[in-house]
Amino acid sequence: MTSLFRRKAIADLLPADAHSLQRVLGAGDLVMLAIGAVIGAGIFGAIGTAAAGQVGPGGGVIRLGAGPALVLSFLLLGGACALAALCYAELASMIPQAGSAYAYAYATLGELVAWIIGWDLILEYAVGNVAVAISWGDYFATLLDGVGLALPPWLSTGYRTALLSADPAVHGLLESAPRFAGVPVLVNLPAFGIVMAVTWVLLLGARESARANNIMVVIKLAALALFIGVGATHLDPGRYTPFAPNGFTGIHQGAAIVFFAYIGFDAISTAAEETRDPNRNLPIGILGGLAVCTLIYMLVGFVLTGMIDYTELGVADPLAHALQAAGFRAVGLIVALGAAVSMTAVLLVFQYGQPRIFFAMARDGLLPAWAARVHPTRRIPYATTLVTGVLVAVASLVGDAAETYDLTNIGTLFAFAVVCIGVLVLRVIEPDRPRPFRVPFVWPVALAGAGACVFIMTGLPRQAWERFGLWLAIGVAIYACYGARHSRLRRP
Ligand code: ALA
Repeated sequence: MTSLFRRKAIADLLPADAHSLQRVLGAGDLVMLAIGAVIGAGIFGAIGTAAAGQVGPGGGVIRLGAGPALVLSFLLLGGACALAALCYAELASMIPQAGSAYAYAYATLGELVAWIIGWDLILEYAVGNVAVAISWGDYFATLLDGVGLALPPWLSTGYRTALLSADPAVHGLLESAPRFAGVPVLVNLPAFGIVMAVTWVLLLGARESARANNIMVVIKLAALALFIGVGATHLDPGRYTPFAPNGFTGIHQGAAIVFFAYIGFDAISTAAEETRDPNRNLPIGILGGLAVCTLIYMLVGFVLTGMIDYTELGVADPLAHALQAAGFRAVGLIVALGAAVSMTAVLLVFQYGQPRIFFAMARDGLLPAWAARVHPTRRIPYATTLVTGVLVAVASLVGDAAETYDLTNIGTLFAFAVVCIGVLVLRVIEPDRPRPFRVPFVWPVALAGAGACVFIMTGLPRQAWERFGLWLAIGVAIYACYGARHSRLRRP
């Protein structure tokens, strides 16, 4: 029983063999990587639902919107994420190894908790990317429409999207789509294609991937600056009253959806093993990236809700929609193009992070050994990169974005909370270990960070909690059948 909680010594977490990765990334690359991971489907897509709220197919309210008080949702999230980010930074600088929260949990809370976190992170990375890929597909369709081209709906709509849609035109595709063996053929080819393309870029190696990411980050910042600049010329002060139409409940439930926009700054800690001077560069990368993103989000939220009535924002492409409704059609299309590029960058960082978590777990014996293979010259975990790419691409082909957002958010918030607690545990059990970066006022900061994450989780619908519970139960069963028997830590 105690072996379930056996911890990996931190010295063992610092790899010295052929199974290690190449250190090629600096602090600037990390801030760019963080922005690359963070600004995407959340700010270009989920922000609309966060402002307007969501109604189910039967007309029942699923969640209340924040209205113009969305800026307060962003502030709340920025604060909560900053607390968690400080904790991430302490662990990332102490334990500069691939695997993120998984590796930290292994060092602090033991193998079983580490496995649960590693399993949970699949929700953040792989499942989150399914949502981003589908959202990318939506924007791609908007762009094609803008230039007078269009794919047939059955090639750009996933089966589950049609099944769950309250829109009769989309739901009706179940009847009108071509059939194969009696099953309607409803696939999202653009979403599938973009995931496979991103996987190909990643297989070229980490240095090339960071370069591609840097270019896309510049484009996404330009798109948001364009939105803010043009939108600010069309603000109506009257739209800010009432400021919080659904009170604090709206701000809370809005925050729980748009938390998706913040997911990703932790992804750069998965690059710890490929970072030069990680003790200095990781904290700078994580906190710097988060501060920049919070500021941009608040500006976008303020401009968006001042341009158009918040009740009109429940659409797949709220920023482009607001611009076009205000008469800026061409600018709307440019921003839509920026959105597609932004989401490509998110896909890139998450498809980069997930294989490295699988790799770390396999190196520890919790997953089969083939998953720990590193390419002999490119020094990347190519086996897991390829498997992750194929799994995410296939799920994006038939999945539904809305269905995956909540699951991703709850899984990620849970991991953040565990990281906050992990920092405290390690301070108690290994107080003298060198900490290149120390969380200031660690007790209040870590406890408030964990508390804030749990509080945001309570803003999610009940179904998300049920699915999350099921996911964890499946994970524990797999651990009992495989990881518990093959763990390297348990073998003599
Ligand atoms: N934060 C990332 C996005 O919004 C996951 O797409």
